[in-house]
Amino acid sequence: MGFTLRFQDKVAIVTGGSSGIGAATVQRLVREGARVLIADLNPPQETSDAVAFHRTDVTSPTDATAMVEAAVALFGRVDVLVNNAGIGCLDETPDLDPVVWNRVFDVNVSAVFYVCRAAIPVMARQGGAIVNIASVSGLAGDYGFTAYNASKAALINYTRSLALDCAHDGIRVNALCPGTVAGTAMGVGAHGSAADRQAWLDPIPLGRMGTVEEMANIIAFLASNEASYMTGSIVVADGGTTAHTGQPNIIAQRARRREEAAGKV
Ligand SMILES: NC(=O)c1ccc[n+]([C@@H]2O[C@H](COP(=O)([O-])OP(=O)(O)OC[C@H]3O[C@@H](n4cnc5c(N)ncnc54)[C@H](O)[C@@H]3O)[C@@H](O)[C@H]2O)c1
Repeated sequence: MGFTLRFQDKVAIVTGGSSGIGAATVQRLVREGARVLIADLNPPQETSDAVAFHRTDVTSPTDATAMVEAAVALFGRVDVLVNNAGIGCLDETPDLDPVVWNRVFDVNVSAVFYVCRAAIPVMARQGGAIVNIASVSGLAGDYGFTAYNASKAALINYTRSLALDCAHDGIRVNALCPGTVAGTAMGVGAHGSAADRQAWLDPIPLGRMGTVEEMANIIAFLASNEASYMTGSIVVADGGTTAHTGQPNIIAQRARRREEAAGKV
């Protein structure tokens, strides 16, 4: 059976596509036939006939409109929009500065609205798919992540309401909630230090962090026609972390007790 290029003749915009999960998504979409506009503050490592860079601050509604116009000028259409640009924030109330809180909401929530507002009229010409990159941090709370938790939760519910409003235009809207993903600039800041590594690994039942390629696989699926009956879905890829209630791991506890009883520890 032949391998189909799921994005042949399709055009995608990937915000934050110069780094991490976004960069892996660009590679994946291009490998499957897409032409991609990267909208980021920083340029990507390389561009090609299939990959263009448009310097964009997604927190600017004017930049968001210019980004969509650039995609149409270069490639003629927009079929896929991946709202991936995001920033982290490790801080806690009451010490969290309101300026920082607002910046996190600007990038992680308001910017997604600005970009969708600009892209939807163009995407509606033929239909398409929007994939918002949220986080498991939007599904429950974390210690010391207040603004990030609240912003990603807002993005998740924006995804649902947008899915309703866009259905009649043939535009599907879904969100991916990654768990802990290794090797990105944001990830290195949050969980990259060797000293903290085990604490980040402990709650992950699969015992390892996710990779950017694993996230790109799911984003490409949600953006493709294979997901044609999915809209308003919140897809979790976290190695099992959020399957857990937070109760202690009694299997590990029993094993430790057996080892203690056998005099091994
Ligand atoms: N890495 C993780 O563990 C993890 C986990 C869950 C969710 N996420 C989410 O995945 C997405 C990508 O994260 P990543 O880990 O690949 O991070 P990253 O820092 O490697 O990439 C983020 C990209 O967004 C761009 N960006 C930031 N602000 C921007 C702005 N105002 N305008 C345009 N571009 C901007 C950056 O320049 C960068 O290229 C984010 O939304 C993040 O919240 C990441």
